[in-house]
Amino acid sequence: MTDELLATDPIGRFRADVLAGLSRPQKQIPAKYFYDAAGSRLFDAITELPEYYPTRTENGILRAHAGELARWCGPHCLLVELGAGRLTKVRLLLDRLDSPAGYVPVDVCGDHLLAAAAGLADDYPALHITPVVVDFTTSFALPGLPGVRRVAFFPGSTIGNFDPPEANVLLRRIADLVRPGGGLLLGVDLRKDPAVLERAYDDAAGVTAAFNRNLLTRINRELGADFAPGAFRHVAVYNRDRSRVEMHLVSDAAQRVSVCGRAFRFRAGESIHTENSYKYDVAELASRAAGCGWHLENCRTDERGYFAVLLLTVMDRSRHLNHTRQGVRL
Ligand code: TRP
Repeated sequence: MTDELLATDPIGRFRADVLAGLSRPQKQIPAKYFYDAAGSRLFDAITELPEYYPTRTENGILRAHAGELARWCGPHCLLVELGAGRLTKVRLLLDRLDSPAGYVPVDVCGDHLLAAAAGLADDYPALHITPVVVDFTTSFALPGLPGVRRVAFFPGSTIGNFDPPEANVLLRRIADLVRPGGGLLLGVDLRKDPAVLERAYDDAAGVTAAFNRNLLTRINRELGADFAPGAFRHVAVYNRDRSRVEMHLVSDAAQRVSVCGRAFRFRAGESIHTENSYKYDVAELASRAAGCGWHLENCRTDERGYFAVLLLTVMDRSRHLNHTRQGVRL
C-alpha cells in the first residue's frame, strides 16, 4: 500500500503501524492509538487521580495567570488547541480573551471532541468554534481570517510524548501553522524526584494500567487480534539517562498472539513499549524551541516547580537565522 492510501485509510495506517511496531526487537505501538472513545474516557479519569499532578498543576498556573496569558494572546486572536480532549483547560483562557476570532480544537478522537465542542458551544454562545478531527502531527487547514493572530495552545505536556527529533518536527510545524508573529502556549512537565514521576504514571487505583491495556483491547476489536489484556502487566519506570518516564506492557509468561493473521511471540518478561513522557527543564526546552523558530517571551511555573507554561512567539526569519548562526559559533 502506498503512503497516500494509508493516509486516507486510518485503519490501514493503524494496522501497518501495529504490525511494524510488533515486528521490532523492542516491540512498540505508537501512543496516539491510546485515544479511542474508551481510552479518551480513561485518560480523563487519569487527569483527576491524586497521583497525577500535571493536570491540576497546569490548571493552577493557567488560573493564576489567565489575565496575563489572555493579554499576551491579544485581541481577536484565533486560538488553536492541539490534542484538545475534554476542553476544560481552555475555558480558563476563553473566560479572559478579548473577543477571540475563533477557537479550533484539534483531536484524533472524533466522538470525544464533538461532544466536548457541543458542551463548550452551550457555555460560550458567541464563540466561533471549529472542531477538527485529525491527528495533529499531520497537516490540516485553519480558517483563513487574514490579519488575525494565530495562537496555538498545546497543554498537558503532550510535547513530552514525542521523541526529541519528532518534537522538533512538531515545533516547526506549529510555527508554520501560526506563521511569523503567531504564538504558542506550551505546557510542559519538569524534571523532578523520580518517585513522584513514577507514581503519577502508575496510580494505586490502576486507572493508568487500564488505560495502557485498553490499547490491546482496541487492537483486538479493530484489527482482529487475540491479545489477553490481563496477561500483560502495566509498568512505568523513569529512565534517568533519557529523562523520560517509559510505559510498557509486560508479558507475564511466554505467549503467542495473533494480529491480522500474523503470529507474534512474547518471551516471559518481554514488553511492548507503549509511551514515553519526556521531562524537560525550561532552559532546555526553550533552546530546543529556539532551534525550531520560536522565541521564549515568558514562562510561568507553580510554587513547587513541577510544571511550566512557556509563552513563545514565532521569530521572523532574520532573527531565526541570527539565532542559528550564534548557535553554530558557540
Ligand atoms: N501527556 C500525558 C503525560 O505524558 C499523557 C499521559 C499521562 C499518559 N498519563 C499517561 C500516556 C499514561 C500514557 C499513559 O503525562
